[in-house]
Amino acid sequence: MELESKIYIAGHRGMVGSAILRNLRNKGYTNFLLKTSHELDLRDQKSVNDLFKEYQPEYVFLAAAKVGGIIANNSYRAEFLYDNLMMESNIINSAHQSKVKKLLFLGSSCIYPKFAAQPLKEESLLSDYLEQTNEPYAIAKIAGIKLTEAYRDQYDCNFISAMPTNLYGTGDNYHPQNSHVIPGMIHKFYKAIQENKSEVELWERKSNANSCILTT
Ligand SMILES: NC(=O)c1ccc[n+]([C@@H]2O[C@H](COP(=O)([O-])OP(=O)(O)OC[C@H]3O[C@@H](n4cnc5c(N)ncnc54)[C@H](OP(=O)(O)O)[C@@H]3O)[C@@H](O)[C@H]2O)c1
Repeated sequence: MELESKIYIAGHRGMVGSAILRNLRNKGYTNFLLKTSHELDLRDQKSVNDLFKEYQPEYVFLAAAKVGGIIANNSYRAEFLYDNLMMESNIINSAHQSKVKKLLFLGSSCIYPKFAAQPLKEESLLSDYLEQTNEPYAIAKIAGIKLTEAYRDQYDCNFISAMPTNLYGTGDNYHPQNSHVIPGMIHKFYKAIQENKSEVELWERKSNANSCILTT
């Protein structure tokens, strides 16, 4: 990529997308195409086609997705499948049609079977059943990986997929039900410290009061 290349980061306000944007800005890249979900619903095929036709991005980071932890995955099964299939299909096909030079799709470690040998190996993909609670999300992610593969095979597109595992960082989601495991744990540790702290303060106040009673 040249410093002035036109780069589209889909999902630039999310945890991963905003980290990619920060990193590229720090490296001197300046020519970004950025749209929030309010400005452009990536599930809408025509809007996505129009965006690519109008702006002709050269490089695409596909970091937009419906994302969440196990509870969210299991509660919104239809949305996790439909939204992710639509977003990735629309972007990957439009990127092909507008001759994007390179596209990065982000998968997830949940694409691997529930009982895959550890440490995970790429060959384990599609070798057994998935974890049931996040199966719709995982199937959408596998479809995205297969889309990049198929577009590479059939059209010689330079489209690739990377499989980040449990990520955490700036701009993460700490919601008690909808977050991923690491931010969820950070939230619980933080809450526990806060609660213990107030218990300690209460205990200190009580023992101070007692010592006052004793000394007076
Ligand atoms: N977080 C992890 O631990 C983890 C692990 C493995 C893989 N990944 C992958 O990394 C990618 C990004 O994850 P993340 O954690 O950064 O997620 P995130 O913080 O929830 O961000 C998701 C982004 O997607 C955008 N988006 C969602 N629905 C949209 C729609 N209908 N139209 C347009 N944009 C939409 C949102 O845009 P707005 O902000 O504008 O609403 C948001 O910026 C995903 O593909 C995910 O599978 C994440």
